[in-house]
Amino acid sequence: MELSSMTKPLLDWYDENRRSMVWRDNPTPYNVWISEIMLQQTRIEAAKSYFIRFTDEIPDIQTLATIPEERLMKLWEGLGYYNRARNLQKAAQLIVEKYDGQMPAQYDLLLDLPGIGPYTAGAIASIAFGEKAAAVDGNVLRVLTRYLALDDDIMKMSFRKQASQALIQVMPERSGDFNQAIMELGEVVCIPNGAPLCECCPLASKCQARELGRQGDFPVKTEKKARRIEKRTVLIIECEDKVGICKRPETGLLAGLWEFPSLDGYITKQKCMQMTGALDGEQLEPVKHIFSHVEWHMRGVHLIIKDTSGMDEWIPNILWVQKKDLDEIYTLPVAFHGFKKQISK
Ligand code: ADE
Repeated sequence: MELSSMTKPLLDWYDENRRSMVWRDNPTPYNVWISEIMLQQTRIEAAKSYFIRFTDEIPDIQTLATIPEERLMKLWEGLGYYNRARNLQKAAQLIVEKYDGQMPAQYDLLLDLPGIGPYTAGAIASIAFGEKAAAVDGNVLRVLTRYLALDDDIMKMSFRKQASQALIQVMPERSGDFNQAIMELGEVVCIPNGAPLCECCPLASKCQARELGRQGDFPVKTEKKARRIEKRTVLIIECEDKVGICKRPETGLLAGLWEFPSLDGYITKQKCMQMTGALDGEQLEPVKHIFSHVEWHMRGVHLIIKDTSGMDEWIPNILWVQKKDLDEIYTLPVAFHGFKKQISK
């Protein structure tokens, strides 16, 4: 993979076009770490407010290591992939124990921390510490495969390794800027859906895909398996000003987070009323939530009951909380927000 012709035009372009971001303008190891984990699941514009909310309350590694898990989850709410937040905390605890609270300044040591893979280790090492390490994400793979018209499957780890090695070969001293420049080019110019904006691209004159008129053929990706569809019935049970929630199991999807009690399959409103002893029930608008491997197709039933006693016989550990505490204390994953909105109308 011959990439030496891209270094200078890329950096020149970045110097002119770099977007301002809170973490980019103050690239401490902590800021880079938190932002890069958030950016694995959210677009840059959306990540900005999550980042500010998170770092306002958890400004450093020491605070992250000790913040109660319930609060950590609440500050991550909306971002999804909650294990990423748990791994942030585990890594922070290790950094406090092993490195006196300072983020280790080396790719190999970073890679040993929970939740930090080759991409994140490369991003932190290069952006925060100036190490010549590659940070290969989907944007980078798209730019490279188009630039060289490579039809390798970008889902293969072996190709990602090859790409990293080729990038390290041509990496300038400003390694963090170089890595961010390729990502940024992939985000704003060499875009994934629709035609890339080649007329604005600093690499256009040497881009093989452009020369062949085949920008849409790269990158080549093996198709993912179709998602499994799970039908569920979600019970939103209210008693006076309280609503019932329960904790999800400690493993699996949305592990350990709160949810409205849910049942497999679709259950009729009448059956739900019968089970809960509700005098009144309303079928809510259905809600769909897409995870990486599964889709939940949920039907919600809003039930009003007069008395909570006896309810925990068939919904063990149900907790009755004030509706406003769903906003302020308990982490209710976005999957359920569609129902929460319907009951707060
Ligand atoms: N996407 C993920 N991390 C990024 C960064 N540091 N700069 C630009 N785009 C990114």
